[in-house]
Amino acid sequence: MAKGKKVTVYFCQSCGYESSKWMGQCPGCREWNTFVEEAVEKKTAGKIKASPDGNQEWKTSKISEIDMQSQERMSTGFGELDRVLGGGIVPGSLVLVGGDPGIGKSTLLLQVCRNLAECMEVLYISGEESLQQIKMRAQRIGHFSDNLQLFCETSMERIEQVVERQKPQVVIIDSIQTVYSEEVNSAPGSVSQVKETTGRLLQIAKGMGITIFIVGHVTKEGVVAGPRVLEHMVDTVLYFEGDRHASYRVLRGVKNRFGSTNEIGVFEMREEGLTEVKNPSEFMLNGKPEGASGSVVACTMEGTRPILAEIQALVCHSNFGIPRRTAVGTDLNRVNLLMAVLEKRAGMTLSACDAYVNIAGGIRMNEPAIDLGIVMALASSFRDKAINEQLICFGEVGLSGEVRAVSMAQQRVTEAKKLGFGVCMLPKVSVVGLTDTKGIEIIGVGTIREAIGQIR
Ligand SMILES: Nc1ncnc2c1ncn2[C@@H]1O[C@H](COP(=O)(O)OP(=O)(O)OP(=O)(O)O)[C@@H](O)[C@H]1O
Ligand SMILES: [Mg+2]
Ligand SMILES: [Zn+2]
Repeated sequence: MAKGKKVTVYFCQSCGYESSKWMGQCPGCREWNTFVEEAVEKKTAGKIKASPDGNQEWKTSKISEIDMQSQERMSTGFGELDRVLGGGIVPGSLVLVGGDPGIGKSTLLLQVCRNLAECMEVLYISGEESLQQIKMRAQRIGHFSDNLQLFCETSMERIEQVVERQKPQVVIIDSIQTVYSEEVNSAPGSVSQVKETTGRLLQIAKGMGITIFIVGHVTKEGVVAGPRVLEHMVDTVLYFEGDRHASYRVLRGVKNRFGSTNEIGVFEMREEGLTEVKNPSEFMLNGKPEGASGSVVACTMEGTRPILAEIQALVCHSNFGIPRRTAVGTDLNRVNLLMAVLEKRAGMTLSACDAYVNIAGGIRMNEPAIDLGIVMALASSFRDKAINEQLICFGEVGLSGEVRAVSMAQQRVTEAKKLGFGVCMLPKVSVVGLTDTKGIEIIGVGTIREAIGQIR
């Protein structure tokens, strides 16, 4: 950055909103108390320089004139990660991996390094851990090829030098919040540092065709700049999430310039690192109780992939004036709405009842297609009658108590069949679109009354 006038600016540490004065609430993201003062050197405005090769004019291009070099994607060795990336790593791309502390970001990327190092040069740069710490983790994970180089460094200038000298094909930066550039005055992890260092990594990635994975921490306190500031700058944003208490982890695409963002990858944290969960439904349904009321299996789509999970509901008479309602793993407002629909359209007096709804296994499901599952679980618990264990259901529920169509019905039915379910309850309107129903009984329902009539 050119030397220029020093000015003080305030940055929202959550979204990067820039302001000349301090504010209590950020107009950008509505968070409170996130503004922090940072000294920034503003570039003095200058004339645009001539193009690099001197006399030639700046040129624009037509799409038809651009040569396509074949953009070979490289596999990370993890099918689950490749899927989230849209089919593998694109050379020269910048990928941000965000997630809560301790969720397993470093573990995942070190495992990716191990797989990639089998056939290419990989450089893992850590600003958080010493070489010994990395070695300890590596020993848990397994055998590493010598194509993997480790480097403990936080200075952007030195990182640039090493990358330029070594010319690896893949670089991992763990984490962006520890990297600092001497040209920016503020502390590592502040918004201006994070923006500056990511900008320079972007230049390396695009200029040298190196794929760079950046680890970013997410903190609530706003002490460290959230990776949300970076989301605009990078090509792909992945979030690694999961329940602290459960061993499985979900890798979710939030932004992807080279593929769909609806895909998820499921992993399990084990002693020897992360292993892929190829069949998440089976994993989620582990430990489902038998013959218990208030439990039903529902189906949600994550991208192109159906996932079955158990919905549990507990409805009991409320001892207080205001009934208690909680929802774990799904939207509470949706649960309240569905209870109102059940009361009005199916005549169930739920207004005096406490209700607890839980998606077992700790996964979050927000797709409307699980409405029917929630309704069934609530009704089953209210009547204290168990639902057929062989049944799975899906369908959106409208305010008139109608069961509405959902997308990709066939995929859901196929998944249910694959896992050995015998009955599938789905919206009547979706039944006609089914092409393969061999081996599974199909129940089309038009209203929630018809649906809960199946609980006998
Ligand atoms: N010996 C072990 N056996 C099983 N799991 C372990 C073992 N050691 C560590 N773990 C798991 O690995 C997790 C730490 O993973 P990792 O260091 O990759 O997370 P991270 O997201 O990089 O964390 P940070 O935000 O601190 O960088 C721990 O939370 C723990 O669940
Ligand atoms: Mg880490
Ligand atoms: Zn903000």
